[in-house]
Amino acid sequence: MPQQEPPKLKAVPPRDQRFSWPRLTGQLPQVLERLKDLAGGGRGTQWLLAGLVGLLLAVAITPHPWRLDSLPQVLGGAALAAALLRVLFVAWYQGLSRAGGRAGARNLALCLALVVMAAGVSRGWEVFAVALLEGWSGPGLGALAFAAPLSAGPILGALLLGPQMGMLAALAGGLVGALAWPQPAGPMIYFLVSGVAAAHYAGREHSLPGLIKAGFRGALAGLPVVLGLALWQGWLISTDALCAVLAVGLGGALGGVLAAGLAPLVEMLLGYTTHIRLMELSSLDQPALQELMLQAPGTYHHSLVVGSLVEAAAKEIGADSLLAKVAALYHDLGKIKKSPYFVENQASGPNRHEKLAPSMSALILTSHVKEGVEMARRHRLGKPIIDIIAQHHGTRLIPFFYSKACEARRALGQPDPEPEDFSYPGPRPQTREAGLVMLADTVEAASRSVDNPTPARLQGLVQQQISKIFAEGQLDDCELTLKDLHKIAKIFNTILGGIFHQRVEYPQAEEKPRKRHGDSDKQPPGKPAHRPPGPGAQGQAGLRRLGLR
Ligand SMILES: [Fe+2]
Ligand SMILES: [Fe+2]
Repeated sequence: MPQQEPPKLKAVPPRDQRFSWPRLTGQLPQVLERLKDLAGGGRGTQWLLAGLVGLLLAVAITPHPWRLDSLPQVLGGAALAAALLRVLFVAWYQGLSRAGGRAGARNLALCLALVVMAAGVSRGWEVFAVALLEGWSGPGLGALAFAAPLSAGPILGALLLGPQMGMLAALAGGLVGALAWPQPAGPMIYFLVSGVAAAHYAGREHSLPGLIKAGFRGALAGLPVVLGLALWQGWLISTDALCAVLAVGLGGALGGVLAAGLAPLVEMLLGYTTHIRLMELSSLDQPALQELMLQAPGTYHHSLVVGSLVEAAAKEIGADSLLAKVAALYHDLGKIKKSPYFVENQASGPNRHEKLAPSMSALILTSHVKEGVEMARRHRLGKPIIDIIAQHHGTRLIPFFYSKACEARRALGQPDPEPEDFSYPGPRPQTREAGLVMLADTVEAASRSVDNPTPARLQGLVQQQISKIFAEGQLDDCELTLKDLHKIAKIFNTILGGIFHQRVEYPQAEEKPRKRHGDSDKQPPGKPAHRPPGPGAQGQAGLRRLGLR
């Protein structure tokens, strides 16, 4: 009997290669993440993506796009769409990579005021332009719409509320403002593009002349829209086009000037802390910093180093580096009143904590937060700085004095004291900048206690301190991610390595005396320094838990 052949099996693709809607939609987050990376991948990539999609759109909406006489329409449409898409890319990337905008009735009122201002400015400019050119029938009548200083609203929004809110103000203000003109479609697209771009540039500026520059750069970003319109409508080679280009430049400059003029007024009236104010506060000539330098020189130096650490780390993770740096400069302002009780201000003097009860020592140390908040209020440092001062120790325990108090009470047969009595009042850091100040403050103070600070030891110290703060849950209320912590640790290692690199040990040198402990907020001076574990077992375990190694 002939042997029966087994039936041929149809080739079935592996399960993970089969098409299915759930599988496809499951990949959507990765696709969006990739697109986000591309959108933020530099100006060239953004323009390339926007140009390609814009060209496709222009071809799709132009009747008979293959004809030669349709070429201007295709190119004009592509330029318009590309300019819009590029702006949307930037806005989208900004929205995804930054923390959410600040909420509150004051901000909402300001946004509404900016939209109303856009409508008023546009209408006022239109009335002025009509009156100016009354009886004039030459070129340039329509072009004057592009000189309306509508970018003032987005620039102010970006300065006071952040670039995202500035871009929202540009979208709302552009739509409303364009309605003041007889043919609103062209001006509307221009106002949207130039306003969003101006808000984007204004978010990076830290001076009043910088705001004028942002207005001008926003206008330049909108110029392709005007040229695209001219190409589309067939007036590219005419005096109208020249007038439109001049109007774009004038409008950008006027928008910047208006924003720069209004900024100090709005800041003063509504109590905002802008980057311009932060730049002022970052000057070491500020009275509060001068007082810190004279009354608590050790704390002053500590604050400068913490400022450098947080500034570099904030840039790395995309946080507000100026706010973080200025907050770091002022974070220990409250130590001025009782500066000798903090070890960094005691060159070789007596340890004032030796004669104090542990609870009193803890009270003195924790009170520098409250004192700092009060001093910051007196010096009008602004709410963002005051908040960071209040949060820079979170609700951390002062372990040295707590264990000292426990020992004393156990010796008397009494129960342990409440840990809250030996902890900072909090709250825990609420923003990435506050979290950064906490991390840098702890790491800088602990780094002073390292004997023979080799790169490996400093690295171990940084990792251990970050892991500890994370494990305590102090960073639970701020938006720092594990990825951020990894980047922060790397930057701290680099900067601390740079600070300590010149301390070379010479073979002939005598053994150096043991350094005093630097972390005054946790242990009093004169006690044996806590030796950082380096890349030891505890640090390694913390790192593995954090995924930092
Ligand atoms: Fe402090
Ligand atoms: Fe500090």
